[in-house]
Amino acid sequence: MKPTLIPGVTGEAQKRIVTENLVSHHNPRGPAVLATPYLLMIMEWAAYNAIAPHLDEGEDSVGVGFEFQHLAPTPAGATVIASATVTQIAGMMVTLDFEAHDGHEVVGRGTHVRAVLDLARFRRRLERKFGR
Ligand SMILES: CC(C)(COP(=O)(O)OP(=O)(O)OC[C@H]1O[C@@H](n2cnc3c(N)ncnc32)[C@H](O)[C@@H]1OP(=O)(O)O)[C@@H](O)C(=O)NCCC(=O)NCCS
Repeated sequence: MKPTLIPGVTGEAQKRIVTENLVSHHNPRGPAVLATPYLLMIMEWAAYNAIAPHLDEGEDSVGVGFEFQHLAPTPAGATVIASATVTQIAGMMVTLDFEAHDGHEVVGRGTHVRAVLDLARFRRRLERKFGR
């Protein structure tokens, strides 16, 4: 982790919502609106993008904690733009505030924790767990 990863660092992500992202695509009885896991994914990308430029070779960040609200519905065709701001760094844990907007209003808001990992060590854990 580089010393440039400090509170105030920001990242952004955006995605145009397509039919496959709608609740109705997964459950025909559901409404034709953006499904919550896809909203969270866009918001997580923003957090990932905030941290990524400040990591050393062989490191990456993974999501470990989410507390967020899905505040308003979004139809297909809209573009969701998410932003994330680092608020705290404690050892390998990085906390961010994140928010998403669909061009009309804020549709998601919350707090997210990511762990900065040594990828080789993380891979060894997976190998121990699954024996491959
Ligand atoms: C982040 C996470 C590794 C922390 O794990 P933890 O159990 O609290 O960590 P511990 O300190 O108890 O260590 C247990 C193992 O975790 C891994 N780990 C811990 N810290 C690590 C680090 N900084 N880098 C890489 N691996 C780490 C190691 O494999 C460690 O075992 P080891 O000490 O034998 O190498 C764990 O919560 C996790 O893997 N969460 C899932 C994250 C994920 O997959 N997210 C989806 C992708 S975005």
